[in-house]
This record gives sequence, C-alpha cells and structure tokens, in this order.
Amino acid sequence: MSNYVGAIDQGTTSTRFIIFDHAGKIISQAQKEHRQIYPQPGWVEHDPLEILNNSNEVVGAALARANLSGSDLRAVGITNQRETTVLWDRHSAEPLAPAIVWMDTRTDQLMRRFLQKREHSWFREKTGLPLTTYFSALKLLWLLENVPGARRKAEQGDALFGNINTWLAWNLTGGKDGGLHITDVSNASRTLLMDLQRCSWDEELLAEFGIPAACLPQIVSSGEVYGEIRSAPLRGTVLAGMLGDQQAALVGQTCFAPGEAKNTYGTGCFLLMNTGMEAVHSKAGLLSTVAYRFGDEPTHYALEGSIAIAGALVQWLRDNLHFFDLAEQIEALARSVPDNGDVYLVPAFAGLYAPYWREDARGVIAGLTRFATKAHVARAALEATAYQVRDVVEAMELDSGIRLRALRSDGGMVVNELLMQFQADMLAVPVQRPRIVETTALGSAYAAGLATGLWQSTEDLRANWGVDHVWKPQMEESDRARLVHSWKKAVERSFAWVE
Ligand code: G3P
Repeated sequence: MSNYVGAIDQGTTSTRFIIFDHAGKIISQAQKEHRQIYPQPGWVEHDPLEILNNSNEVVGAALARANLSGSDLRAVGITNQRETTVLWDRHSAEPLAPAIVWMDTRTDQLMRRFLQKREHSWFREKTGLPLTTYFSALKLLWLLENVPGARRKAEQGDALFGNINTWLAWNLTGGKDGGLHITDVSNASRTLLMDLQRCSWDEELLAEFGIPAACLPQIVSSGEVYGEIRSAPLRGTVLAGMLGDQQAALVGQTCFAPGEAKNTYGTGCFLLMNTGMEAVHSKAGLLSTVAYRFGDEPTHYALEGSIAIAGALVQWLRDNLHFFDLAEQIEALARSVPDNGDVYLVPAFAGLYAPYWREDARGVIAGLTRFATKAHVARAALEATAYQVRDVVEAMELDSGIRLRALRSDGGMVVNELLMQFQADMLAVPVQRPRIVETTALGSAYAAGLATGLWQSTEDLRANWGVDHVWKPQMEESDRARLVHSWKKAVERSFAWVE
C-alpha cells in the first residue's frame, strides 16, 4: 500500500495540494490563488465554483509533477478556511450565491437583532463562541433571508449548507450523483450551531436562528474513511480526513498534549492551545473550540485566539496603497527605519476579534507626525501582528493558568525575520519555527494517514516535528512596556467607529 497521503489545503487566498510521505516530507505540491470579491465595504465573497476548479487544477498539477495518479495515494485529507459559508442546489450542483467569507461583516445588523434578546453568554455556553459576524450561523441566515427561494429549498433539503470542506467533500465523493454531505467536528464547532459538549447540532440554536435542519451536513470525526473519491483527478483513493485549517496546523505542529500551543501567521493569525478532553470556557475573550476527534477516540478541545487581519494587512499595503510590488518587500522597507517612529496601525478592518470582540471597531493609524514615512507605516503594520498576538497570549495565560514557555509558529509570515524577532521581544519568550512549515496541509494529511494506518497514533507523529529556527527575546522590559502601552492606546482609538 502506498505511503503517500495528499492534502487539499483550501485557504482564504489560495488553494494548494501537497503530497507527503511517512516522514512528513513534501513529495510534490501545487498552488493557485482565487479572486477576493469585495462588492461593498465590509463584504467579502469567494466563488465556490472557482475554488472547486482551482482545487481540481492544483491536484492535477501536483500529481503530474510527481508522475502519480489518484490510486497512488493511500488517502486524501481536506483542510480549509473555516466559517466561510456556501449554500448550493443539490440537484444542479450550482451555488445559490457567492460564498460569504469568514471576515465578511454584512451580518452585523442581524447580530444586533439577536443580541437584543439574548446575551453573548447564552451562545457561549452552548457553543464556546460569542455571537459575532465571524461564524457561519448568521451568514447562512443572511443567505436564507436574502437569496430568492433559498429558504424554501433549504427546508425541503434541496439546498445544502456547508463550509468549504463540506462543499469540496460533496463534490469529490459524487456531487449531484450522491456526494456525501458531511462536515467534521472541528469545522462544525465554528458554525455557532453545534453543542460543544455533545458535538451535535443544537435544536434550540436552530430554532433561535430559524435554520432548517434539512440543509445541514452530518457531523463526522476529523479522521476516518468517509468514502471513495469519485471525481477525477483523485479517483482511486479515499477521503479520510477533514480539519479546519487552524486545527490542522495544531495537529501538524503535533500539539497533542494539554498546554501545547501553536500560532499560524496567515491572512489572519490564529493561536490555538490544546486543552485536552475538556472544553475550557474562556473568561478573557478567547474561543472554546473543537481541536480534533480521530475516529472513535475522544474529542479534544482547544482555546483559540483569533486575529482577523495579519498577512492581509501586508496585502492591503501592497494592493490598496501600492507601498511595494511583492509582499516580501515589506521587510526591507520596514528595516529602512530603526523603529516605528511612534506610529501604530490597528487593522480593525473587520472589527477586532480576540480578545476584544468589537464589531464597532475600524482601522486606525495613530501617532502620525510630519516625521512619519511610508517605512514607519510598514513597520507599524508588521508590529501590529505581533502586538495582536501578544494580546491573545495574555488572554490565553489568564484563561488557562499556563505560562507559555515558547511559541510554535508557522504560516506565510514566519519568513519575516523582523516580525519574528519583534514577536519574541513582545512575548518575552522564544518563538520557534518547525522544520516542516506546511503544518496546515500536514495536519490534514496526518488525519487521513491516521485513519488509514500510515501512522498508528499521534505519538508516532511527534517524531516528524523538529525545530528549524528559534528567535530569542532581546528587548529590555521597560522598552516593551512603553511600546505595549502605546499600542493599547491605539486600540482604544479604533473602538466605536461604527455606530
Ligand atoms: O477562521 C478563519 C481561518 O480559518 C482562515 O485561515 O489561513 O485561510 O487565513 P487562513
């Protein structure tokens, strides 16, 4: 039997397919970006068909590069941008509307409507999540209320809801000719519709939101053989893993013991700490979420600090303000000045997520003087990610009572030495980069490989993890305190912009 496992990594900006071997080594890969559609301020959409086509394309390209076919893979796992909401017609396989992306804030009025009646705590107790625009429930409700015919079709089971993992799984396993309508526990825990303890759809929540159960997928584990893949180019193998991308990175970083944590610097930035078989309810503004459940094993939970805008801020400087042509050029620009010149940038483009949860916040640049240059703003943009992570770590330590000893980092921004050093300085603990940085794809490959016997247990996987680089803190405590103080002032300036 083959020792290769494939992972479809469907992220916010691009889709990849990576083939791994038993040691976690990359055998082949391909990647393609998809369009970000911004029809109005606050709205962010993706085209589900474009994502599906890109997924097939990158799978084909990576297989061809390694001269492999679907049947040469032991199994395939999916990992995905979470919360992004798709509603499609089960007979035509056509989406009823563009996908509403996780960072889209069009549902803020809907959110207020529900918060007049219920406290955040009511939602948190059931789901581990506050009621915000971020999660899927309100996005699905928006589609049901605004797309003609959607509610009727959903009630009759003719329209199917899914996050991107569900959409891809349904298409891979047969689509309109009988595709599996499934989602895994980690993705389901991001919908605001799942009871976090029982890991099943919560009837009270469905009634509260008026969401018909007929359109919801079946909740399955994160690693088991769900079924055969019936569409080209993966025909001949099985789908055996599904994990939300941040949970996948936790698995890829082998954070299997309570207290182990990772931080992924992608479009956004997401810090997850494994809390074992217990869902710890946060008092400090973090989320309680499912980490993973492999087959019949117990569900593992995590505390999560979600930051909406990290790498996306660099893209914004590139695309909207034309500061540079390539995202990686930000480092040289930021390094051309010795410090931030007292400039702070709070990227509250979609409100502020953890630990603040302020939908009413919007982005600000604070501390501008005639002295400030584009380089200071670039530096402030990089630093913003590190400050936001620091805020989340502070909340994580309060909630868990565990003092972080080192931060396992991954994601696109970990190549940025300036950011990583500043991160270590802001946290006053070392920041580590693992040997295999494609932890998200790796995590879903692990899920699929565990389900099909390529690895026997999570302990087996630890052997594949090793440190490639460490950034040690170098800053004086008094300097750190001064910078953090100014950052917190800038954060306050971003509040209450939307009335
Ligand atoms: O919750 C959103 C998250 O899953 C998106 O991750 O890496 O695509 O920015 P990423």
